[in-house]
Amino acid sequence: MSSTITQPKKAPKNSYQIPPNASEHQRLNRQHELIQEIMLGKVFHSPITHPTQILDVGCGTGAVTYYLGSTFPRAEVYGIDLATILPKPNKPENVTFVQADYHDLLGSEEPHIAPGTMDFVFSRLLISGMTTWPSYIRTCHALLKPNGWLEIQETEFPYYDDSGIVSEEWKWCQAYQAGAKAKGLDLSCAVKAADWMREAGFVDVRTKWYYWPHGEWMADRGHEEYRNLGNFLKREQPRLYQAILSNLVSGMGYSDEEVRALQRDVMETLEVEEGRHKNYWVTFGRKPS
Ligand SMILES: C[S@@+](CC[C@H](N)C(=O)[O-])C[C@H]1O[C@@H](n2cnc3c(N)ncnc32)[C@H](O)[C@@H]1O
Repeated sequence: MSSTITQPKKAPKNSYQIPPNASEHQRLNRQHELIQEIMLGKVFHSPITHPTQILDVGCGTGAVTYYLGSTFPRAEVYGIDLATILPKPNKPENVTFVQADYHDLLGSEEPHIAPGTMDFVFSRLLISGMTTWPSYIRTCHALLKPNGWLEIQETEFPYYDDSGIVSEEWKWCQAYQAGAKAKGLDLSCAVKAADWMREAGFVDVRTKWYYWPHGEWMADRGHEEYRNLGNFLKREQPRLYQAILSNLVSGMGYSDEEVRALQRDVMETLEVEEGRHKNYWVTFGRKPS
C-alpha cells in the first residue's frame, strides 16, 4: 500500500476562488464534521461493498479521503487536489494524495488513476472551481469499474425561505451569478448532477437533499442535528461570499466602491435567519455491469 504525495510534472492550470491557507483548512475540516452531523453520521450514501480503489476528487484537507481510507483499510484511496495536501500524522497507510487538476483526471501523473480501475469516485463542494461538469462526469464513468459508484455532493445556489426563493432580487447574488457564469462555473450543478449522470450512462441514479441552513432555526423546529451547521454557516458564509464575490466579478467592470457595496449587500441580505437556507444535494449512481 502506498502513502506518497504525487506531484504534477506540469503546473496545474486552474485556480480556486479561496486560498488554501490554515484558516481555510480549519473551515473545511469543521464543515466536514458538521455535514456528517446533519447526515446523522454518514459521509457518503453509495452502497459500496469491498472496494479496492477509491478516488476523492477535489479532496481539500483530505477529511473525506482519511475517512474512506480508515473505513476501507483494504482499499487504495486517492485524494486529488490542485493544492498541496499536508498529511497529518494519523494518515492511513492506504491513502495517497495526488496534486493535480480535476479537469484533467485521466492526464494525472498517478498511474493507478486509470480507466476501469475505481470502485467509487466521490466529490464534494466543487461548485466554485469545476468548469466542465458533464465531461468530468463522463471521465468518472470511464474511471469506474462496472458496478462502481459515483457520488456528487453540492449546494444549490439560490437562498430560500419558507415561501420559496428569496435571493433573485439580491444585487450581490445577481453579480455573483453573472461572475460565475463568465468564469465557466455552473451554480445549478447540484440539481443538474442527476441528469448529467444519466446522460453519461449511469443507472440507479438517486438524489437526496438536506438543508444548508443559515442560523439555528432548523434546530428550533426540532431538527437538532442542524444546530451546529446552521451556526457555522451563519458565521462563515457571509465572509466566504464576500471573498468569492470579489474574485468572480474581477474584470467585469465594477469599481472598487461598487464591489464594496456588493459586499455590504452580502452582510445585509444575510442578516435574516428564520427559514433561510440553501439546499445541499447528494446524487449517486452506478456504472452498469
Ligand atoms: C470547497 S473545497 C472542498 C474540499 C473537499 N471536497 C471538502 O468537501 O471538504 C474545494 C476544493 O477543490 C480544490 N480545487 C479547486 N479547483 C481545482 C482543480 N481545478 N483541480 C483540483 N482541485 C481543485 C480546491 O483546492 C479545494 O481544496
